[in-house]
Amino acid sequence: MDKKINVLGFSGSLRKHSYNSSLLRAASELKPDEMEIEIFELNDIPFYNEDVDNAGAPDSVKLFKEKIAAANSLLIASPEYNYSFTGVLKNAIDWASRPPSNSPLTKKPYAIMGVSGGTSGTIRSQMHFRQVGAADNMIAMNKPEVYVALAKQKFNEKGDLTDEPTREHLKTFLKSFYEWTIKNS
Ligand code: FNR
Repeated sequence: MDKKINVLGFSGSLRKHSYNSSLLRAASELKPDEMEIEIFELNDIPFYNEDVDNAGAPDSVKLFKEKIAAANSLLIASPEYNYSFTGVLKNAIDWASRPPSNSPLTKKPYAIMGVSGGTSGTIRSQMHFRQVGAADNMIAMNKPEVYVALAKQKFNEKGDLTDEPTREHLKTFLKSFYEWTIKNS
């Protein structure tokens, strides 16, 4: 491992104490040295409106698309909402997907991970995201996978990932993601 790569991370939750945003922060801590992770907040991305898009996308969207284009790969963390990923994340992807002929998502390598309060660990959310990613010709890392269930037992009150087996698994996942990004970007 010696080549440096830049990863853009974003969370599908806008919640201040979001476990998924906390998982991204843990990834920034546990990543290989050769990987930089920049976390992009989706808070300023407005609802998608094709009229607005045709007139010229807002600055927050332009910046998001530029950051995607400049990144070697994307690291996405999202909660599961009603058996899917969040509307916040879908909305951001919708903006980035237009126009399809010039979308920074095209052939962009990515990995998705997630945390749930219950036992599912966001399995359905992640499977659904892969379907949407295929529409935009994104390149998914299929395995290893990160499904963090029972969030309260894995994070402390400050939002630090404290569960040792999960930390070890995340480290392994990020090492694979590094190697896989090099091969696919
Ligand atoms: C949820 N949650 C949830 N959990 C799950 O495992 N499957 C689901 O389908 C849903 N659906 C759902 C819908 C809505 C609208 C909310 C607000 C929540 C619970 C969810 O896993 C929990 O709130 C997480 O803590 C959200 O992630 P963040 O915000 O902590 O990152």
